Amino acid sequence: MKKFPPLSKDFPHFLIGGDYNPEQWVTEEGILDRDIELMKEGNCNEFTMGIFAWDTLEPEEGVFDFSLYDERLDTIYKNGGRVILATPTASHPRWMNEKYPEIMLTNNLGIRHEYHSRVFQCLRNPIFKEKARIIDEKLAERYGNHPAVIGWHLNNEYRAHDCYCPECRRQFREWVRKKYNNDLDLLNHEWWTPFWSHRYQSFDQIDPPNAQIGETSITGLSLDWRRFVSDSVVDFVKLESDAIRKYSSRPITTNCMGRFDRYDHRKMAKHLDFYSDDSYPSWFSSTRTISDQCATWAQISSFCRNMKGGKPYILMESAPGINAWQNSFRPNKSTEAQLFEAMLFVANGAESVLYFQWRKGRGGGEKYHGAIVDHLGTSEHRVFRAVKQVGAMLKKMDGVIGTGIDAKVAITHDYETLWALNSYINHWEGLGGRSGKQNGYMETINALFSACWKQNIPADVIGYEEAFEKYKVVFMPSPYIMTEALANKIKTYVKNGGTLVTFHMTAMVNENDLAYLGGMPACGLREVFGLRVDETSDYSTSNCAIKNSVLYGKKSYPVTANADITVLEGAEKLGEYESDFFRGASAVSKNVYGKGVAYHVAFCPDQSFADDFTSDLFGDLNISAPSAVTGDEFVRVVCREGDGEEYYFVLNCSETEQTYTVHEPLTDLLSGNAVTGTHTLPAFGFAVLKK
Ligand code: GLA
Ligand code: ZN
Repeated sequence: MKKFPPLSKDFPHFLIGGDYNPEQWVTEEGILDRDIELMKEGNCNEFTMGIFAWDTLEPEEGVFDFSLYDERLDTIYKNGGRVILATPTASHPRWMNEKYPEIMLTNNLGIRHEYHSRVFQCLRNPIFKEKARIIDEKLAERYGNHPAVIGWHLNNEYRAHDCYCPECRRQFREWVRKKYNNDLDLLNHEWWTPFWSHRYQSFDQIDPPNAQIGETSITGLSLDWRRFVSDSVVDFVKLESDAIRKYSSRPITTNCMGRFDRYDHRKMAKHLDFYSDDSYPSWFSSTRTISDQCATWAQISSFCRNMKGGKPYILMESAPGINAWQNSFRPNKSTEAQLFEAMLFVANGAESVLYFQWRKGRGGGEKYHGAIVDHLGTSEHRVFRAVKQVGAMLKKMDGVIGTGIDAKVAITHDYETLWALNSYINHWEGLGGRSGKQNGYMETINALFSACWKQNIPADVIGYEEAFEKYKVVFMPSPYIMTEALANKIKTYVKNGGTLVTFHMTAMVNENDLAYLGGMPACGLREVFGLRVDETSDYSTSNCAIKNSVLYGKKSYPVTANADITVLEGAEKLGEYESDFFRGASAVSKNVYGKGVAYHVAFCPDQSFADDFTSDLFGDLNISAPSAVTGDEFVRVVCREGDGEEYYFVLNCSETEQTYTVHEPLTDLLSGNAVTGTHTLPAFGFAVLKK
């Protein structure tokens, strides 16, 4: 594997620092100077600036004041720091709202939101778009080549609100007209509108799906509306990135929110140069072990780095200490947990440990949210010292920059499938009958990723557009929406020797949620999997009187959600249902197709099945964990590699002491010592070992 280029050629180091809002501090004497001293003292090197600075930068319409930012950027650079500069569009100034109230979101009852909070604008509004373009270009023109600026941060956690303003309604109609080639017959067919007498006579009659309507009627409309709202975000990201690129060649990102699913992050990521995420572990769940939580965060890291083809990503925000908004998990983090958390993200592909926030404000809703600099204001604070320790470690890790994770396993994740299978986004958008949690789409992904993670087998979470060929196995959870193109991709991959595993509810509808006729899985996939699915049962409701289970190998596994009832057409049965009227029907099957193998798991797997099934499969396919380092049950070993270098991150994902054993001579990157043999890791302990 080759190393990826660093985010900044001139600054090929791990970034540590975080959100910095000097505009909140101009009235408080001495603070701005102190920030610079503390940056150096705390081993920090980065400030993310300008996120909420629009009313500082443009105090009146068309009047710009860059004096504070001119001074800050110069001073930070002179003192060795760097800046990721934000466009301030997540919150516009009050004067703008007074003059152009129509830039605010309108809800589904037609009521325009009042000015409050943030990320509250209509992203389709032409005035707001123009105002955003102007301030973005001004910033790019002024700071686009400033030596402190190593990257751009668009907006802040784009939300993808559904906006029902007249402009959005009009644009939605145009979007639909374009998609269906101005062909009403095609639209009425694809949306199946004779259902409940909903035929359209004109594109002008189209309205967004609305809670007011009550029951789910046209599911194709709901799905297209989600696509339209998602496209609104993508278009706005493009507008902002184009404005920056006009004057600056520094790389662009935006801070995403993990698996937030209201817009298609992969479509958006095409307009970004690097991907970023805000991740907030708390570690204080009474229902999920530290180990399980680590699996979730590792999965999110995998998801993030695979947004840009495996390239390292930026951890843009995380909490130093307490988190102000996570109501259920409020205990503060120990220093050990803070250090561990940093290494967990770095191990899985982050090239920074950035925090929200640099300094706790004196007022406002986040004044008690963790910060590198507390109200105490000095370096004596425990949290400051913890961050300083993270910085000291990262200084020794320049070699890790640009390394990637060489996964032989992929798990697909697709936004449109998620929208089609889940009604939880907005209940009235439910796509009818098959909607809801029982579909277990994310549950399947989670179980598969955790299974890989527990076996120290790296897995990439990828979109359908990624090449399958580099993987020995592709897990494809419930590809409910199937297109000819995707079916052909599956066929080619398996025919040429790949192993593909699919799950319940495969290939049932076309891209407009029209059920296929003539047998599922559709689009010629019956032949690939060697079976047919005529029915899908559901055991998910808590008061369901009937239980079922699957016998696979010598063990029985519970069926707690959807379960396809299969008819084999050539596939070999590896597991079967144990009860209900279809007892004995295949629940796990294998079919040779060309040079490859296609597996079908007919039910939503629980963790124990995912663990055992993947372990069998990895055995068959010779997919194995790193052999240089092994450890106890809760020790995870992740290898980042590139240009012949290998770095083993050894993480104790538990609160109990664990041991690990080094099987070949490695060097401890943090102490510089040679290591072999067996060692102990305390709770949340870790080591970084170089080959
Ligand atoms: C988000 C936002 C930040 C801040 C933090 C608090 O990630 O981007 O502005 O509100 O949450 O955790
Ligand atoms: Zn709108």
